[in-house]
Amino acid sequence: MDTITVRKMPFEFPDEIDPVIFEGNHKQSFGFIAGSLLLPHLEPYLIRSMKAAEEHVTDPKILDGLKRFAAQEGQHYRMHMKFNATVRRSGFPGLDALEKELSDDYHRFSETKSLRFNLAYAEGFEALTMNAIKQMMEPDGFGEDLPVFMQMIEWHFVEELEHRTVAFDVYDHVCGGYFYRLFVGIWAQWHFTRWIRRATAYMLKMNPPPKGNAKTAVENGMTQPPARASIRDQISAVWRIYLPSYTPHSVTIAPGIDRLARKYTAMAIKTS
Ligand SMILES: [Fe+2]
Ligand SMILES: [Fe+2]
Repeated sequence: MDTITVRKMPFEFPDEIDPVIFEGNHKQSFGFIAGSLLLPHLEPYLIRSMKAAEEHVTDPKILDGLKRFAAQEGQHYRMHMKFNATVRRSGFPGLDALEKELSDDYHRFSETKSLRFNLAYAEGFEALTMNAIKQMMEPDGFGEDLPVFMQMIEWHFVEELEHRTVAFDVYDHVCGGYFYRLFVGIWAQWHFTRWIRRATAYMLKMNPPPKGNAKTAVENGMTQPPARASIRDQISAVWRIYLPSYTPHSVTIAPGIDRLARKYTAMAIKTS
């Protein structure tokens, strides 16, 4: 897990998909989809922030990490756009307005906020998601015979773990400062999780769970959402990212994730 491999993946999605991707679980299904809808707005913003930082980076190792981070995120959001187009064909016209609001926010941040703010936002996002991914995926990923959208998520999450130190290092190298990173990071986490909650609530309103115990049909092949760690484990994992001593360099990744990284490298159309 010490190398950052850029993989171009061959995933293709059906024309239409039942948006209830986890059987009988509208809330988690729409939560996952909202996360996917967020990324083609958020990840290009992260890339813009990294590109703006590039001229200030004098350490060749950090510079190489920055470029690989940007290249991985570029693959991620393009793939999510393909998946999102499939989801959008199943309805939810109000998502347009929600996405426009988000896109406007991120363009405004790039144009009007300081580089320090934008890099602290990036690290706030990366730190929280890296910890959430570890909770969801370790020790061995989501299992065998995954539907294609879950393979996409797994590939994406593996790469998030691969580049887990980059945003932290770039912020530290170019700007630095614990308290600023802490406060902007917490605000960033509120900002993007709030959007996910709003998009999820909208989808639930448009496509509410059936009353009683009726289950929805599943044609997607994934019957259950990824297991979540206990609340206690989640709190202890998330808490550490707010401590002054936190560094993603000391985060260990389970060996099973390395195996997944090799699997997705073998599946890729192209790697660099
Ligand atoms: Fe990503
Ligand atoms: Fe990332």
